[in-house]
Amino acid sequence: MSAVPAARARPAGARRPLVARAGLAAAGLLLAAAAQAYRPVVDYEVNCQGCHLPDGSGEAGRVPSVRRTLTLFSMSPAGRDYVIRVPGVSQSSLSDADTAALLNWMVAHLSDDPLPPGFVPYTGAEVARVRHRPLADPARRRADLLRAAGRAGKDPAPRRDISVVKRPRNG
Ligand code: HEC
Repeated sequence: MSAVPAARARPAGARRPLVARAGLAAAGLLLAAAAQAYRPVVDYEVNCQGCHLPDGSGEAGRVPSVRRTLTLFSMSPAGRDYVIRVPGVSQSSLSDADTAALLNWMVAHLSDDPLPPGFVPYTGAEVARVRHRPLADPARRRADLLRAAGRAGKDPAPRRDISVVKRPRNG
């Protein structure tokens, strides 16, 4: 610790080293907290943004926008089940805990709607429980959920061609 020799050099600073050490510890905690907060952003950039775009708005006809749906889906057990089981989430290489943190970050940062009061954060345990049962037909499950929420047709289901690299925009 570079702070220790400097503190010793002060003759009357009997308390300084302790304070300095406490300061360093606090800085360490802050750094850890910052890394924690930074993590979901990077996970999103690396694993999701290629399809969902930086603001979550997706690509018409290919990847749905999560901006009006993620909060909605996150408020019901059936919706959460869908969110955790879509291929991009369930099959990513992220750990259960990181996936939960990422979803919570998306709810807070990539939604048009403010965080609903009753929102329950996703947890690693919840992700672990659900993710290993892949959805047979995500588009259909999505349409069912939107219909049940009275939002049928408002957020059209994507076409199932996400493996195609790029389609002409005017196609
Ligand atoms: C290859 C493109 C692709 C990647 C990569 C991808 N997704 Fe998706 N995502 C989709 C598509 C397409 C859907 C619509 C459901 C379906 O048909 O699979 C979707 C649906 C979702 C939904 C549900 C929202 C809704 O309105 O249906 C969430 C949440 C989501 N993705 C999160 C993620 C996260 C988090 C990652 C990264 C860990 C990710 N996705 C990576 C294409 C992708």
